[in-house]
Amino acid sequence: MQRRTALSLLAAHVASSPLFAADDDLYGPINIHEFEDVAKRKLHKLAYDFIAGGVEDERTLKANRAAYGHWELVPRVMVDVTNIDTSTELFGVKMDSPILIAPTGGKELVMPGADEVVAKAALKSKTVLCSATGARKLLDDGEPLNWWINGIGQPTREQAANFAKRTEDAGGKAIVLTVDNAYQSNRDRNNRNRFDYGMMGRGVPKPGEEVKPVNPATPAMWKPHTPNLTWDYIDWVHGASKLPIILKGILAPEDAELAVKRGASGIVVSNHGGRQLDGVIGTLDALPSVVEAVGGKIPVLMDGGIRRGSDILKALSLGAKAVLVGRPPLWGLASFGQPGVERVLWMLAAELKLSMGLAGQTRLSTLTKRLVRKSA
Ligand SMILES: Cc1cc2nc3c(=O)[nH]c(=O)nc-3n(C[C@H](O)[C@H](O)[C@H](O)COP(=O)(O)O)c2cc1C
Repeated sequence: MQRRTALSLLAAHVASSPLFAADDDLYGPINIHEFEDVAKRKLHKLAYDFIAGGVEDERTLKANRAAYGHWELVPRVMVDVTNIDTSTELFGVKMDSPILIAPTGGKELVMPGADEVVAKAALKSKTVLCSATGARKLLDDGEPLNWWINGIGQPTREQAANFAKRTEDAGGKAIVLTVDNAYQSNRDRNNRNRFDYGMMGRGVPKPGEEVKPVNPATPAMWKPHTPNLTWDYIDWVHGASKLPIILKGILAPEDAELAVKRGASGIVVSNHGGRQLDGVIGTLDALPSVVEAVGGKIPVLMDGGIRRGSDILKALSLGAKAVLVGRPPLWGLASFGQPGVERVLWMLAAELKLSMGLAGQTRLSTLTKRLVRKSA
């Protein structure tokens, strides 16, 4: 796909999305939104709400999507865009496209063995999987999965060192430390469904099936996760391992500066997909000041609300080195299993390439913030 023209790319996209494909056919959904529609039909309400939902009034969730609306592209023309190259490299891993799979827990509500299925899709799509399963092996030895292992750092020196060691032993290429997870958040949809995290170990609920809460007296909120996690964690990891440590959940430029100072190797600008604190800035809006604070010293990635290739183009133009997607692969997974995840990743990559061609851009390294402006 590397050297195809924008036109042939679009033709391939249309040809592989027959207009009359059935809804339950892999080629039925023509965009990520339609994948979500199929997933919603196939999932139990409790599972759909767990994935789709945000925290409280879902203002943060909406802010993520809204930001792609008020940042607008200002395309260039009369540029030879016959060859468009979206390849990139991150911490020694080469990728055809700057789109990674974000860590998402709870996939067992979608299908049995879901983590392995997504890992296979990541391998086939030649992208990086940020795994939320800890350092548990996901694929057979010898399969060259590029994976970063996500943790919510258990805040002692010993636990940090153990986690780093287990990540290395499992072949993880980086540690993604989630830093916005001090407490279990207050998710209205889950509370309304009497969702309990204990439900996750009990198989995939069928749509319409009655699911009894494990402990209806305790809504899944307020539980402390890492209220005492501090910057020392980075030193503790580095004392035990040379793995890069990437902090996920940075929004404030002050924290971005501290991350650089304290030795983080990368940052993910993220608000956890609107799932932690409500009323928070959309990630695309937060990105420019974080990029400025970092000053090119370490790569800045971002996630939150990406549903289109043009969303990705905006993020990259504002200084993101790559993006992560959380819900879209889950919609692909719930719709059609492994091929669904691959199709979703392919669709986003194809849309990005086409958007670049139509914006007069041929490579990621020359994208600049001049390509976007914030509407009044
Ligand atoms: C079902 C679900 C589970 C998630 N679990 C985790 C997790 O275990 N660790 C983490 O750092 N982020 C987690 N996230 C947040 C994602 O990594 C990512 O930041 C977010 O989904 C990006 O927004 P998007 O879904 O709009 O792409 C989760 C998100 C979802 C939707």
